[in-house]
Amino acid sequence: MSGHPVSRRHLVGGGLAGLAGLGVAGAAGVAAGRAQDRPITPDGTSPGSYGRPGLDEVVAFDGAHQAGVATAQQRSAAFVGLDLRADVGRAELVKMMTVVTGDARRLTEGLPVLGAADSGLAAVPASLTVTAGFGQGLLRAAGLQQQAPPWLRDLPAFGVDRLEEHWSGADLLLQVCADDDTTVTNAVRSLTRGIRGFADVRWVQRGFARATSLEAGESVGHRNLFGQVDGTVNPRQDTDELDRLVWVDDGPDWLRGGTGMVLRRIWMDLDDWDRLGRVEQEQAVGRGLADGTPLVAAADDPDEVDLEAREPSGLQSVPPWSHVRRARGDGPPGPQFLRRSYNYDDGPGESGRQDAGSLFVVFCADVDAQFVPVQRRLDELDLLNDWTTPVGSVVVAVPPGCGPDGFLGQELLA
Ligand code: HEM
Repeated sequence: MSGHPVSRRHLVGGGLAGLAGLGVAGAAGVAAGRAQDRPITPDGTSPGSYGRPGLDEVVAFDGAHQAGVATAQQRSAAFVGLDLRADVGRAELVKMMTVVTGDARRLTEGLPVLGAADSGLAAVPASLTVTAGFGQGLLRAAGLQQQAPPWLRDLPAFGVDRLEEHWSGADLLLQVCADDDTTVTNAVRSLTRGIRGFADVRWVQRGFARATSLEAGESVGHRNLFGQVDGTVNPRQDTDELDRLVWVDDGPDWLRGGTGMVLRRIWMDLDDWDRLGRVEQEQAVGRGLADGTPLVAAADDPDEVDLEAREPSGLQSVPPWSHVRRARGDGPPGPQFLRRSYNYDDGPGESGRQDAGSLFVVFCADVDAQFVPVQRRLDELDLLNDWTTPVGSVVVAVPPGCGPDGFLGQELLA
């Protein structure tokens, strides 16, 4: 096999029997043994045994919803946008998603994908999750445009946008997250290699996050590159609120139990931001920098920003142009969708300025009803716009999860 990459496109068509002839049976056997050694607890995790907690954790792949959405945020991520080849139609998409599903299932269990040498790269699952999302182009290729939810299209153009083709759009999006960078890299490499007969990589965006719960004075969210605690007002795992905001309930049948995903690559002007004083930085958002506590807390909830509070002068304590006030609008306090963003840092950009910012990720049941109104308000007025610029944008529909014999997107494609 060496030197001759095997097209998985043909392997799938020929069934798994062909793999035995390629010497894969042995590797699969070893791997299967290892998976059995690793007990998976009912909550989908396994106890760590790599010495460092977490590296041996397994997040269950199969389930009603895809993993990587309501999953506790891992520290490393890659977002991969792929374009389908011109000759790919519905039958090929079934094959492609069968491969993606099988490969993702094995990788998340710490096993190499079928046909790959057992190099050890896959052996550290580190809470790996692979989440697949379908762009408008995938439904078109399948001849199933009429099954698309109305929001599955490019977002409306916003005044703040400076979108680059290079970071925007995708027929298929794979979100790969784990608590280990090498695990993420290996998963991306394995997954994209597995489907290269069907789809070409258009972009890869790598991200990182440090949960603020790891810092002193526990709080939720992660620390973004402006130094802010990001993700405070977010639905918590295993709550009715998350279920209601995130999972599609009354959309197209094939998408029930799935969700909508928006990925915006937002460049952040770190140099200019760093020139501001602490007071200006905190007023731009409405929360303190150190731990994200509100500038003025609501009387009944110390975590909630009191937007009604006034200074003795009569001016609003949380300024009219602050990010939190604009993002919340006139609605009641509380989350409007799930944010699961990562930082990125690609070093000095072409202009010599740091190419760093946020891979801003939202999961919601209805992109038009939940995400777009917030983005419109922020587009009209938000002081953060002075230091942030969206340069990439993609919207995908994330199908529900599947069982051990199924594949992702089966309800749509099969
Ligand atoms: C790089 C750009 C951005 C930065 C640095 C940023 C930062 C923050 C920070 C620090 C908070 C307060 C803590 C929290 O609740 O997480 C916040 C809240 C929020 N942000 Fe952003 N954000 C950005 C972009 C966006 C975008 C594009 C949207 C949506 C279109 C958005 C929607 C929200 C919402 C809904 C809240 C919660 C507001 C509330 O009800 O209190 N943000 N953001």
